[in-house]
Amino acid sequence: MSDEKANLHLRDATYDFDVIPANEGNHGINISPLRATSGAVTFDPGFANTAATKSSLTYVNGAEGMLRHRGYRIEDLAEHCTFLEVTYLLLMGELPSRKQLDAWTAEVRVHTLVNEEMKGFFDSFPRSAHPMAILSSATNAISTWYEAYYNPSDPEAVAESAKRLIAKMPTIAAWAYKKSIGQPYIYPRNDLTYVENFLHMMFGLPVEEMDIDPVIAKAMNVLLILHADHGQNASTATVRFVGSTQANLFASVAAGMNALWGPLHGGANQAVIEMLQAIHDDPDATTETYVARAKDKNDPFRLMGFGHRVYKSYDPRARILKGFADEVLSRSGVDDPLMEIANKLEQVALEDDYFVSRNLYPNVDFYSGIIFRALGFPSRMFTVLFALGRLPGWIANWKEMHEDPTTRISRPRQIYIGERTRDFVFIEDR
Ligand code: ACO
Repeated sequence: MSDEKANLHLRDATYDFDVIPANEGNHGINISPLRATSGAVTFDPGFANTAATKSSLTYVNGAEGMLRHRGYRIEDLAEHCTFLEVTYLLLMGELPSRKQLDAWTAEVRVHTLVNEEMKGFFDSFPRSAHPMAILSSATNAISTWYEAYYNPSDPEAVAESAKRLIAKMPTIAAWAYKKSIGQPYIYPRNDLTYVENFLHMMFGLPVEEMDIDPVIAKAMNVLLILHADHGQNASTATVRFVGSTQANLFASVAAGMNALWGPLHGGANQAVIEMLQAIHDDPDATTETYVARAKDKNDPFRLMGFGHRVYKSYDPRARILKGFADEVLSRSGVDDPLMEIANKLEQVALEDDYFVSRNLYPNVDFYSGIIFRALGFPSRMFTVLFALGRLPGWIANWKEMHEDPTTRISRPRQIYIGERTRDFVFIEDR
């Protein structure tokens, strides 16, 4: 805490609030005593100006398009790390030594199987079920085997829950997909890396050996890292919100998955591909007509994969992905016409005053779908892949919240604008 104060002048009184310095980025004004001292509350729709927590995990500089985890640049992490290494960094605070990484990998690896009874759980969904619905339900469902680890105040129980979630999520994600296409569920193989094992369970069959293309495995590793954490986004805030009630880690993560599913958040990656496909399939459509629709305030259509609450410049993850998309497409020999449409759309939008004046740039979801597609994933799996990547961020935020002694149950206020007291009217008289 610094000596600096912020003053609020309200109805002939002045109130002083402590200023909370940040190491980087926005400093905060601690308005905790506001309601008790002044009778007022703050009003901040969408929490655009509200810091709900202090955090040491991730720094996003929206003006300059920078993203760092625990101080490390996302560009460096994406180029040099494995996903489990970044997971370790987020959860433990430091990059692991080789020995620590090996031990961590071994600890996670032993938990990749889900209970055999879960097969019946996957079977019970209709073939047409969206895999995000299965993913979040299964995340809740597996918690029923781990009630002994529910206590959020027990660090060992939390560590065990975290390991199980990280280890089992690829299995759950792959089985959600297998269910949707009527193929047998493929068991994990613990001799493979985290990413290779996921690809094996997604695309393998019990009748033949599957060769895992290292290009695809590398691309998947980078994609997961790019999604690993991103500050207090809607799904992470949901995980913290639910966790603040002392709900267990599984339940909190399942809630975060549901928040992620929405098309304004992680669901945008599926929506982007559907938008690009619609442009491709419509002989009368041009990128210009879609940009015009996005600008039309009478049309609810938005350019999916564009805009971000925090980034007011190019999303660094989108920048990495854009370069990567070209590389993956050319190396895997895929000539995707949607890539050309995406490039054109971006070019048209970035030269348009509407997008320029509102600082609307491509976000992570704009190019991730094209790469996921090139890797062979159907569009309905894209948000599941996002969830797989975001899992360490959710867990690390949940942990950080529980380790913070100042944490209280999340419970926002409201400004009531409804009726004042009315006399009750009996049903016969209404
Ligand atoms: N297309 C057209 N106009 C847009 C878009 C878009 N994609 N995004 C924002 N705008 C406009 C808004 O209409 C608003 O215009 P106005 O000032 O004239 O009213 C202005 O830009 C500011 O937008 P807000 O909606 O106020 O910004 P907010 O921070 O609330 O929303 C969001 C951010 C939800 C990401 C928004 O940009 C959007 O809907 N984008 C499309 C969906 C998307 O790609 N989501 C993924 C985000 S990244 C992630 O979650 C992983």
